[in-house]
Amino acid sequence: MTENTPEMDSVADRARLTSGADTWHTEEAAGTLPRLMLSDGPHGIRQQREGGDALGIGDSVPATCFPPAVALGSTWNCELVQRVGAALGEEARAQGVHVLLGPGMNIKRSPLGGRNFEYISEDPHVTGEIASAMVDGIQSQGVAATPKHFAVNNQESDRMRVSADLDEQTLREIYLNAFETVVRDARPWALMSAYNRINGDFASAADWLLTGVLRREWGFDGIVMSDWGAVADRVASLHAGLDLEMPPSGTDDQIADAVRDGALEESFLDATVERLRLLAERVALERTQGYDADAHHAIAREAATESIVLLRNDGILPLDADRLERIAVIGEFAAVPRFQGGGSSRVVPTRLTPALDAIRATIADRAEVTYAPGFGAEGEDSLIAAAVETVRVADVALVFLGLPDHAESEGFDRTDLDLPFAQLRLLQAVTETGVPTVVVLSNGGVVSVSDWHQSVAALVEGWLLGQAGGEAMADVLFGTGAPSGRLTETIPLQLSDTPSYRTFPGGAGHVRYGEGLFVGYRHYDSADVEVAYPFGHGLTYTSFAYEDLEVARVEGGGCRVSFTVRNTGERAGSEVAQVYVGRDDARKDRPIHELRAFVKVHLKPGESARVERVLPSRAFAEWDLSHDRWNVTGGARLIEVGGSSRDIRLSTSVDVEGDGFVNELSPWSTIAEWRAHPVGGEMLTKLMGGFGAGVADRAPELLQMVLQIPLIKLTSWGIGLTVENVEVMAATANGDRSE
Ligand code: GLC
Repeated sequence: MTENTPEMDSVADRARLTSGADTWHTEEAAGTLPRLMLSDGPHGIRQQREGGDALGIGDSVPATCFPPAVALGSTWNCELVQRVGAALGEEARAQGVHVLLGPGMNIKRSPLGGRNFEYISEDPHVTGEIASAMVDGIQSQGVAATPKHFAVNNQESDRMRVSADLDEQTLREIYLNAFETVVRDARPWALMSAYNRINGDFASAADWLLTGVLRREWGFDGIVMSDWGAVADRVASLHAGLDLEMPPSGTDDQIADAVRDGALEESFLDATVERLRLLAERVALERTQGYDADAHHAIAREAATESIVLLRNDGILPLDADRLERIAVIGEFAAVPRFQGGGSSRVVPTRLTPALDAIRATIADRAEVTYAPGFGAEGEDSLIAAAVETVRVADVALVFLGLPDHAESEGFDRTDLDLPFAQLRLLQAVTETGVPTVVVLSNGGVVSVSDWHQSVAALVEGWLLGQAGGEAMADVLFGTGAPSGRLTETIPLQLSDTPSYRTFPGGAGHVRYGEGLFVGYRHYDSADVEVAYPFGHGLTYTSFAYEDLEVARVEGGGCRVSFTVRNTGERAGSEVAQVYVGRDDARKDRPIHELRAFVKVHLKPGESARVERVLPSRAFAEWDLSHDRWNVTGGARLIEVGGSSRDIRLSTSVDVEGDGFVNELSPWSTIAEWRAHPVGGEMLTKLMGGFGAGVADRAPELLQMVLQIPLIKLTSWGIGLTVENVEVMAATANGDRSE
């Protein structure tokens, strides 16, 4: 080891800053860097008590447990999510937390994903908008948000080693897109790299990702921290753009030695220290005195109410307690709520009201409420028998079903979409009584409903609703609140219909994203596959009409889309109007339509709203694999508006202007590509004269064959065309454009 001279000490001192001081704190450097506290999680503060173990899950300081991302996403309400974020930021400040480790925002590639409760959608647009709102809210309080896990972390199986293998177009359009939106729009002060590899490169050491894409292309100026224990090579990670290893692995000397040995330029270390310093400048350092727990609980309840998705209703909901004598509440989840997911995001709530208590509080003075667990630890048959007895003498049965904690969590994926068999047995026994039945689900990941949903009067997807979920559910069931959630993930008829069915979760260290762009509704809608409930679906207690769609091109290649939404029912309610960009050409290599904008409007009966959204030119772009760029090809596009991906109410065609990019020609460009080129086309016509026309007349199928031939191949056709000619032609065609 080189003798420590003053400048060498500064290298060691700076290297020390590039990993945490402990599991939850950064290092302090006297006079330049204060010690910062980091804490989970995305839907509540999980601040470890002093001396907590590396996991310490379930033993943190009590905090408001807001609805996890699966529910917040289902609100489709960015303004509300921003307020949840601000409340999280307030609570973080009150607990002395400077960096909050959320939102989780990976795409739900498969409904089997164990951590889907912690993520927002199968679609990158709604993911990007909701996550941006969350980041805005958290950082509005002077707390750093940390969007995670960057990137392509879409499964829990083998998450610390597996390589997600995918093409660049799928990567850009599906798995990086939401992160790009958040970085560009919400400007997070931190970001967490993922455990997994991407096409063989560890995300925490991929300079093309952490520097090339994230910093050079998107302009990210925050810090990148590792997921906990994700760093495999300290020097490679710091060189790639990872600033902070968490938790520390005691290997800072590897950084210092690499700088001393010249294996790592000192400028990389200095850049990291500068970014850590900027983070410390951005966050509010002082702890606040506290927060209003009641106010935060009210926000949690509002968010939970707007998260609830009414999937099916024959008119039984909302229940009228004045016209019901006895309501049977069945299912252990009514009394012992499942309100959040397992793993690092788990919060100790400040309070928790089971749905059963909330229902009793809502209607006890108007109708009798009975209860039977129906399933649980002890003997199944007796529990079912007791539940049936309770239901037989009731006017309606509210059956609370869902996934138990052990069925889904961070750290492992599911292998099927089914509800537990005991619950299915219970439901069958209850529906056989003939008493009108409402099923309420508590689940983080999608469950299959197709075998039984038509035998119930109503089906309510409650996801995981946080500590206020019981009150929210009672509000919606009895009409105090109205359901306004929409699915951000398709509910398929069966697992084998899912696009990743044959490749999730992979094996032997690799998972191949063979479905490409066709994730979620992009697959089901393009392949016209029947689903149980489509992306964007959700019923309300009223109805809506869509009128007067207008689309106009705007400067810069985008379009302004405007239309009217009208409440045509008897009750106030919220509609989530969705705008999809579709194709009316027969291209099979692209999804039939893609969500590009949405707006949630709350309307009284008879009221209408004129909605306007401007789609930027990027809304019409696709990633061009040949030229590694976003490309807007001019031509017709469909603009569709409606209440789900399968409920398109209005649509019109618009002629989108291309972005003017013209592919460079090369000797290997095909005849078809030469013909389509603004300069090369004329050169080709001069070169080949009537050759093409002759071929077309004699045998049109020959023309199709000729069009696919690279021009260079014609040099061996004895038509006097040499390789040099072709090279000069390409240089001329490309050069002309540069003038
Ligand atoms: C976990 C999670 C990450 C969390 C971190 C700290 O492994 O993947 O989301 O923030 O470790 O608990």
